Amino acid sequence: MKVLVFCILLCSVFSMKAQNYQCFSPGQLWKDNNGVHINAHGGGMLIYKKTYYWFGEHKIEGKTGNTAQVGVHCYSSKDLYNWTDEGIALQVDDDMNSDIQKGCILERPKVIYNSKTKKFVMWFHLELKGNGYRSARAGIAIANKVTGPYRFIRSTRATPGCFPVNVDNNEIGGKHIYVRDLNNGQMVRDQQLFVDDDGVAYHIFASEDNRTLHIAELTDDYLDYTGKYVRVFEERYMEAPALFKKDGLYYFMGSGCTGWAPNAARSAVAPSIWGPWTELGNPCVGENSEKTFYSQSTYILPVQGKKNAFIYMGDRWKPNNPIDGRYIWLPIQFEENKFKIKWMDQWDLNFFSSEY
Ligand code: DGJ
Repeated sequence: MKVLVFCILLCSVFSMKAQNYQCFSPGQLWKDNNGVHINAHGGGMLIYKKTYYWFGEHKIEGKTGNTAQVGVHCYSSKDLYNWTDEGIALQVDDDMNSDIQKGCILERPKVIYNSKTKKFVMWFHLELKGNGYRSARAGIAIANKVTGPYRFIRSTRATPGCFPVNVDNNEIGGKHIYVRDLNNGQMVRDQQLFVDDDGVAYHIFASEDNRTLHIAELTDDYLDYTGKYVRVFEERYMEAPALFKKDGLYYFMGSGCTGWAPNAARSAVAPSIWGPWTELGNPCVGENSEKTFYSQSTYILPVQGKKNAFIYMGDRWKPNNPIDGRYIWLPIQFEENKFKIKWMDQWDLNFFSSEY
């Protein structure tokens, strides 16, 4: 009897800690291997050696949590349901001369692997401490090991001194914000990285005071811009860019621009990353689709070992208590050359096998 009680107690303690998830439950608490709600907001994913690595903003309780008090958190998983805490991959700095001083704004970190240099490269949106959202810079960090530690290299505005390739030179002298910023570099806010099949990487970010997105090519080592870039979705005020490729077509998902409040998502398709981009409207359907199910896109994840299987990863922000932010993961469904996202209380990866 005593042994039985002991076993029951042990099991309940164990199940409190290590969950064994078999499905996704969008919007619910999602506990890691230590029983703690995953803390990787505005995140992105890297698949490396058949393992998923989820990088995101580590938030803390209360409104201060909207500034970076800790850094970028990393988790790993083999099955996408159960996540192991790999610790803080990039730490903010106590040094007040550092660009990533504790209390700066460090958002939407994304990590890619460079097979030529064998380095892991992280880009993020950086706002220098005490400057609101006016700095609008990109931060770059590098690591030898996927989980870090990542070493902060520098922050920069985008493509300084370079003219967009899809704009007529006659516009020089015009009123556009990108013309104002030509010399010092373009503004970088919500951002994404995308590595194409040929290994060329691109930085996609909200620029020009969030009016227009830019897509900029990165150098071979992924640490800088080549200077080639396009302006896309001019004056459409898009944030939260996410990109994926299917059957040779490039798909885009993003949001409107309403701070932490949810709005209707946007989607688009293009035959080349350089465009032309054709808007496809809100990909979400059904109840609360006009609010993206109370979430905002952060990444679209291709599932390993499954054809045409992509997962929408979104954040349900809690600006008054950011650590409690929830994750909305839903399957992407294709209809002709469009994609759709429907709400599901629960689902698992068998969804893909059954549908395609
Ligand atoms: C919306 C962006 O998508 C977030 O990353 C963050 O910058 C908030 N705006 C701040 O209001």
